[in-house]
Amino acid sequence: MDDFIAALPKAELHLHIEGTLEPELAFQLADKNQVSLPFATVAEMRAAYDFQDLQSFLDLYYASISVVCTEEDFHDLTLAYLKKADSQNVRHTEIFFDPQSHTARDIPMETVLNGITSALKQGERELGISSRLILCFLRHLSADSAWETLQQALPFREQFIGVGLDSSEVGHPPSKFVKVFEEARRNGLHIVCHAGEEGPPEYITEALDLLHAERIDHGVHCMEDPALVERLAVEQIPLTVCPLSNVRLCVYPDMSQHPIKRMLEAGLRVTVNSDDPPYFGGYVNENFTAVQQALDLSRQELIQLARNSFTSAFLTDAEQQKLL
Ligand code: ADE
Ligand code: ZN
Repeated sequence: MDDFIAALPKAELHLHIEGTLEPELAFQLADKNQVSLPFATVAEMRAAYDFQDLQSFLDLYYASISVVCTEEDFHDLTLAYLKKADSQNVRHTEIFFDPQSHTARDIPMETVLNGITSALKQGERELGISSRLILCFLRHLSADSAWETLQQALPFREQFIGVGLDSSEVGHPPSKFVKVFEEARRNGLHIVCHAGEEGPPEYITEALDLLHAERIDHGVHCMEDPALVERLAVEQIPLTVCPLSNVRLCVYPDMSQHPIKRMLEAGLRVTVNSDDPPYFGGYVNENFTAVQQALDLSRQELIQLARNSFTSAFLTDAEQQKLL
């Protein structure tokens, strides 16, 4: 089965570029930029990837990204991910970035965007991976901060295709960000939203009805609301599920409890993604393998998951056909 999974062409639609920072690169950049990490060694850093919930992960994720400073750093971080994705037969990626975690350190929006974008172009040229970029607002910060971030990014509108919402979910519902998402839509941007990762099914409904989300990131808590499951199935709303993330952040006690098979059986348009791979113990193929083994997914189900990743991407029909 591992060979079958490795050979499947896949798209990855839920991947935070900041969350691809491997400890080895973190130490290299810490040294180069003279920024200190709260760990003495790579092994110590990896050993700290033992989380109780989303917040315990986010605390480490925001602390670690402080070593990524220059345009070249953003380029190197992004290219390292694309090489890994290419080695797993990922043919298309839609990558999240969190500009507020950089602008708060006085790194200009332009530096972040230019570094990431130049790597995406190189990936397309040299590896044949197509990529798009999605700007995420940090939901634990204010709606005003999100608004200001969108205004800072709009001069570079051609470098990203959409906006999303991430960070600490509970207590920060989609309804907090209606105005900025309306402004994003007015600028022709696609809309996605993390919802139902730790938060209740109502946050998924808010993301759909108030933000007009076209895709839901995670969405696993929809399973507690049969009417919502029915709606998501009828409307074929894509759900970008991240199985290893859900287990490592204790959303489920182990993979055998993960609902992804039941979600497929309910007719939901589910995809498999890696979220923040080094933190959660695997890239996209390891996520496929983990759910296949724990839930005994068939080849047909694996093919469906991979197909869903292309049909849920923000690509034209012609672009999808080329990749499928
Ligand atoms: N930022 C990076 N990974 C995240 C996740 N799984 N949930 C919310 N925000 C995130
Ligand atoms: Zn995420």
